[in-house]
Amino acid sequence: MYKQLEQRGMDSPPVNVGMLRDMKQAREPIACLTAYDASFAQLVDFSGTDVVLVGDSLGMVIQGLDTTVPVTVNDMVYHARCVARGLRRAFLIVDMPFMSYTTPAQALDNSVRLMQEGAMMVKLEGGQGQMAIVEHLAQHDVPVCAHLGLKPQSVHKIGGFKVQGREEQAAHRMIDEARALENAGADLVLLECVPASLGSAIRDALHVPVIGIGAGPGVDGQILVLYDVLGITQGRMPRFVQNFMRGRDDPLEALRAYVHAVKTRAYPAPEHTFS
Ligand code: KIV
Repeated sequence: MYKQLEQRGMDSPPVNVGMLRDMKQAREPIACLTAYDASFAQLVDFSGTDVVLVGDSLGMVIQGLDTTVPVTVNDMVYHARCVARGLRRAFLIVDMPFMSYTTPAQALDNSVRLMQEGAMMVKLEGGQGQMAIVEHLAQHDVPVCAHLGLKPQSVHKIGGFKVQGREEQAAHRMIDEARALENAGADLVLLECVPASLGSAIRDALHVPVIGIGAGPGVDGQILVLYDVLGITQGRMPRFVQNFMRGRDDPLEALRAYVHAVKTRAYPAPEHTFS
């Protein structure tokens, strides 16, 4: 009946939220990537990636949009379903899209839809305004990842994709928000585009793992968008992106090189970080 009991003896049992916390304690970097379909999800899973995120970045890399704002819950449900079918070991997180968590009841309804497709955790772009939402989801045993720093769903409010938390006051506010989100029940924090020193400070302030994208080497894990890692995305890249296909001709080899670089802390290098 409990498949997880059988899986305990496996060489690489499926990753769960407790294992992610243990990795933080043991200071073993957590390797994460996005995926949007079953075939790539399988490849990412084979590479040894610990966490897969069905990101609302699918608006850009799959749907050709300029922002994540138009992505819908139905889009996320469809891609979550596809990705879940490709995974065996990796822990699956799925994004709650723009305006899908404006009230606790709406957030719960939408996260139930995602969890029933195979999500093991939902991610929402959080801050002071989301404490009650995170608390409500946690009270209903929905694991939550709170996304801080650059919050792409707020792009029109912020006025562009910019590094966040550079000023002292903003950095302190973000540390306080991260602590409050953890106290509200968040099981993971994702930090996007912040100075490396702030990434380390938030990592040290929390008991839950902190995953970074452009947040420097001092966080508990790293995440990148799959299409950036595989050199598929064209045009100007953010400084934290590294194309692991360069010099390789096999995508699985490139993904394994990414996981190895994260685990050995070769990625991110100083040129990938903000100050
Ligand atoms: O949507 C997404 O892919 C994300 C990553 C940038 C972490 O949130």
